[in-house]
Order: sequence, then structure tokens, then C-alpha cells
Amino acid sequence: RDPEWMRVGAELSEAAGADIIDINMGCPAKKVTGGQSGCALMREPELARKLIAGTVAGTKRPVTVKMRLGWDEGSLNAPEIARIAEGEGAQMVTVHGRTRMQFYTGKATWDRIAAVVEAIDLPVIANGDIEDAATARAALEQSGADGIMIGRGAEGRPWRLAEISNAVFGTPYRAPTPAQKLESMLTQIANSTELYGERLGVRVVRKHVAAFVDAWCEDLGLPQMAEARVALCRIESPAMLRDELIAALGGRRDAA
Ligand SMILES: Cc1cc2nc3c(=O)[nH]c(=O)nc-3n(C[C@H](O)[C@H](O)[C@H](O)COP(=O)(O)O)c2cc1C
Repeated sequence: RDPEWMRVGAELSEAAGADIIDINMGCPAKKVTGGQSGCALMREPELARKLIAGTVAGTKRPVTVKMRLGWDEGSLNAPEIARIAEGEGAQMVTVHGRTRMQFYTGKATWDRIAAVVEAIDLPVIANGDIEDAATARAALEQSGADGIMIGRGAEGRPWRLAEISNAVFGTPYRAPTPAQKLESMLTQIANSTELYGERLGVRVVRKHVAAFVDAWCEDLGLPQMAEARVALCRIESPAMLRDELIAALGGRRDAA
């Protein structure tokens, strides 16, 4: 809530190698909004203005702002917050097409992002419920946005981003083989333990392993592996996580 800390945070982020700094004004979680952070900032435009200005003052990197449509149906003020962001030197705005009170229920309404596109000259990115080429095209068409952002649709399957991008632009795309997918997950496990250490690294990466297993089954048209998934999420050692993942998918890989 203090612009000075936003300035310091931006400075530290740039020194740590950040390419951009994205301010999150979209998080709906009670523990975040209760502290007047995340989406709660959309209810306090003047504070939001100061925090964006503080961030911009701390870095030469582009500062971007992520938000929702507004707090609730009675306060759809994303265009106002976007204008403030533009005025304070932000360089891009992303809008999740839900209100805070919707949390993750219902459907994102991409057409309501159009008011933000009209309100500012900055690039606007549409977000929410985009998970394949069809929803990507629909979101772009309905919002008139300059680009899209994908979150949950890429969980456990990060190659989905290239798949959708190539489909939208009409460029060639070669899907990774099951073996390549598994290899990428094993690399992620190794990277996570290298970055966070063994104990925390395994805990951080387990949810990605779970999402990967779900996506693996879905993409191959196989039944979900509920038991193996639960067992994988209890493993504490990186080597065992790796071995058990390979064992769990082994038969499935042959099936592919
Ligand atoms: C588990 C989880 C964590 C998230 N963390 C962040 C975050 O740290 N910063 C942020 O701007 N948005 C965060 N989001 C919101 C997403 O970026 C995105 O706006 C939202 O999930 C809607 O897009 P999607 O339907 O493509 O997932 C998070 C969402 C989920 C489900």
C-alpha cells in the first residue's frame, strides 16, 4: 500500500533481471483483498494511481497492470483504472473478463473488455477462460484486444501456448511427442529443486506434476489417474518423484 515500497520493489526486480514488472490488481483472494491489495485496489483508484506511479519511478523496464472488469457488477471501472495506468506511465494493460465478486465462477465476458480497448491507447490484453484456438479467436474478436493471456489453459501443458499462437497466426506447428512432454516435466522437476533446494523444490513442483498428469491423460484420451496423482503429490524426494512419474506414465506412454 506504500508507493515507496513499490518503487523499491521495482528497483530490486530490475536489478534481479526482470524484463517487465506487472502489477497485480486482479487477485480476488480474501487474504489479498483484505489487505487492500490485488483487486481491492480497483476500489481505490487514487491509491492505485500512487502505486503505479511509485513502480514506474523505480525502474526503466516496462511496467504493466493486470486487472479485472471491476469489483462487482455495480462498479465496472476497468476503463477508469486503465486510464490512470496509462497516465502514470504503464505500458500495457491486461484485463481478466470477470469481476472480483465472480472469483472464478461463470464465464469470462470478453466483450466487456472492449470498453478498456476504447478507453486507452496502450496495448490491451484479454484474459480469462481462453484454452484453445477457438476461444482465443473469440476473445480477440469480442474484445478487440491486441493480444491474449492464457493461465489455467496452459497448466500442465505449456506447449498449448505455441499451439494456440500458431493456430491463430496460421503458422506451422509440430506438437511435442509424449516422450518430449515427459522430458520437459523431468527438466522442470530438476530446475525446481536446483532453484529452491530439494525440500521446497519438490513441494513447489508437485502441483505442476499433478496438472501434467491430468493433461497427459486428457490429451491422450485416457482415463484420469487419480490414485497415482495423489501418490505423486505426497513424495518428498526429487529422485523418487522423477522415478514414480516415469513409472506411472510408462504404460501410458506405450499406449500412446
Ligand atoms: C492458482 C492461480 C494463481 C494465480 N496467480 C496470479 C498471480 O500471481 N498474478 C496474476 O496477475 N494473476 C494470477 N492469477 C490469475 C491468472 O493470471 C488469470 O488472470 C486467471 O486465472 C484467468 O485466466 P485463465 O482463465 O486463463 O486462467 C492466478 C490464477 C490462478 C488460478
